[in-house]
Amino acid sequence: MPNRRTFLKLSAASAAAPLLNWSPAASSASPARRPVVVSTWNFGEAANEAAWTVLQQDDGYVLDAIEKGVGRIEADPEIHTVGRGGRPDASGTVTLDACVMDEHGRYGAVAALERILHPAAVARRVKDDSPHSLLVADGALRFARAQGFEPQDLLTDEMDAAWREWKEKNPDAVPDPPEANVEAQDTTSRGGAENHDTIGMLALDAQGRLGGACTTSGTAWKQPGRVGDSPLVGSGLFVDPDVGAACATGWGEAIMRVAGSHVVVEAMRHGKDPEAACREAAERVQKRSDSDNVQAGFLALRADGQAGAYGVRSGFDMAIYDEAEGNRLVSAPYLVPSAGAE
Ligand code: GLY
Repeated sequence: MPNRRTFLKLSAASAAAPLLNWSPAASSASPARRPVVVSTWNFGEAANEAAWTVLQQDDGYVLDAIEKGVGRIEADPEIHTVGRGGRPDASGTVTLDACVMDEHGRYGAVAALERILHPAAVARRVKDDSPHSLLVADGALRFARAQGFEPQDLLTDEMDAAWREWKEKNPDAVPDPPEANVEAQDTTSRGGAENHDTIGMLALDAQGRLGGACTTSGTAWKQPGRVGDSPLVGSGLFVDPDVGAACATGWGEAIMRVAGSHVVVEAMRHGKDPEAACREAAERVQKRSDSDNVQAGFLALRADGQAGAYGVRSGFDMAIYDEAEGNRLVSAPYLVPSAGAE
């Protein structure tokens, strides 16, 4: 498997498409670049690898690939921002947010879900096997159990020890005063570059079906009940099968303010290439942010298979896998350097 890092000057493989001439209608007349999968951060390479085992089959279905890809990260106890092994909330409980969207633009999500290893798989069941789009907390858990998902302990010894250490320094953080909690969060998602956050994945299968998913344990030591951008349609993820898909990672509160993934897709609809569309969302996050330490990163996958990425700050990576160049990690362009970076 190729494993290399390049600097993203243009949207990945964008040279193949004259972007200013692209339109949803025109794209159906030109051959798409597929299959292709993109995902956030360096753990995205392992996720892409898993997704590719499905995508490389002619009839491999996009959401089967995505569920398998993000599922690998959800199950990895060494990744402290997703699934098992994720950092808990301020009360020491691991709670998970996830959503999926399919090739018809149908959406399913869970938020504040406890004790289920694969929240993205549950989100898919919400989409397919319930009349609803978003289930939360105990209701989401009850639904998951009814669907056959077995509850299990997601708090690893390592994260339990980390939470105890944090709690010792912040004994009164929950429920009051909330300020203490916000201060603790400053060392995690807001800085961003060192915190690998949500796994967001977008893919186009060999049949041309576009889909996406986000899954996360959210920001460390969050206020119990806090839900981030990841399960919220238009914030953490948006798929318009006629145009393209986008997902987000980073400080959820800032991404929600601007409905970041929806911004990316709408910018593509109006002719921006995937990288420029992600840049537009990053600029809006920065403009609306009340902190000078916010990180957010966006990925875009257009309906013709062209991909792009952009971060508010340096340090954001896109993992991309296609037939032409294999699986590789690409450093996203950014608006401003992260604190401490050159
Ligand atoms: N972006 C993940 C979160 O803020 O929860």
